[in-house]
Amino acid sequence: MNKKIALTGIKPTGSLHIGNYFGAIKPALALTANYETRYFIADYHALNTMKDPAELSVSIREVAAGWLAAGLDPDKVIFYRQSSIPEVFELTTMLMAFTSKGLMNRAHAYKAIVQENNEKQNDPDAGVNMGLFTYPVLMAADIIIFDSDVVPVGKDQVQHIEMAQDIAQSINANYKQEVLRVPQPAVQENSAVVPGLDGRKMSKSYGNTIPLFAPEKNLRKLIMRIVTNSQAMEEPKDPETSQIFLLYKLFALPEEQAALAARYRAGGMGWGEAKEELFRVVNRELSPLRERFQAITADPAGLDRILAAGAEKARPIAAATLRRFRKAAGI
Ligand code: TRP
Repeated sequence: MNKKIALTGIKPTGSLHIGNYFGAIKPALALTANYETRYFIADYHALNTMKDPAELSVSIREVAAGWLAAGLDPDKVIFYRQSSIPEVFELTTMLMAFTSKGLMNRAHAYKAIVQENNEKQNDPDAGVNMGLFTYPVLMAADIIIFDSDVVPVGKDQVQHIEMAQDIAQSINANYKQEVLRVPQPAVQENSAVVPGLDGRKMSKSYGNTIPLFAPEKNLRKLIMRIVTNSQAMEEPKDPETSQIFLLYKLFALPEEQAALAARYRAGGMGWGEAKEELFRVVNRELSPLRERFQAITADPAGLDRILAAGAEKARPIAAATLRRFRKAAGI
């Protein structure tokens, strides 16, 4: 039986952190067991907001190296840069003809910018380029070009998948045949919420992250900076309300978790010691990733070859979708 196809788009947003690892990377890589998986770096999407060439090219390579270091196997999946697949942009143009402007007006991300502009009494379109405005069409093309059945996304991206469905359905309805496959969102509901250094959700915008590939020394320093309460060393502590323990659970074996929880409850263990335990298990899991990341970034030509090989596998699939659509359209 043919496996279904899952597609993941990765925005090059600079350094990856532990929150990305548990919230996005690990669940997306796990799909490889049951799906034919495709992963791509959404570099033309990033161009909408990143205009500094050095920043953009570093981000692209960092995020590609990061996913490879975290376990993406380019021999088993298709891994490519969006900008290497010109068919995506040809499809974007065709999808535009079936996308009402009103649909784009309703996109949450666009609406949020307009609202902010209105609040600040700016021109409503200030800071909105056409790439940003038509972002959902390009994203629909990313998805549709590879006949994707499912797209794993966070809740914030569900509307975009629904727009891709709308667009594909109106095309199929127009030509009275299934020209394009209609994708389904797979919302990562139960993906781990990773607490940051200050106890809030780990997020780049809060500045509370632990970078995935931090050198060992920095990793230790960051872990020592996790905010704790003022409970004295002797006091028994509740593991389930401790940020340190919540992080520990992500990295430790079940028996290690049980042992540390017992030490919390018994009292006599200070926060410093709990942090040392946390550092030990985090470093144990991340050391091999860090080494792979360093090896990959030390060989940029090798990384480019991996991505180019991925594009070579991807392009014939993309071309077939385009051919089908052009034929149906009479072009
Ligand atoms: N918009 C997605 C994000 O912000 C990235 C993305 C671009 C994407 N194209 C995609 C995700 C296609 C899934 C499928 O994270």
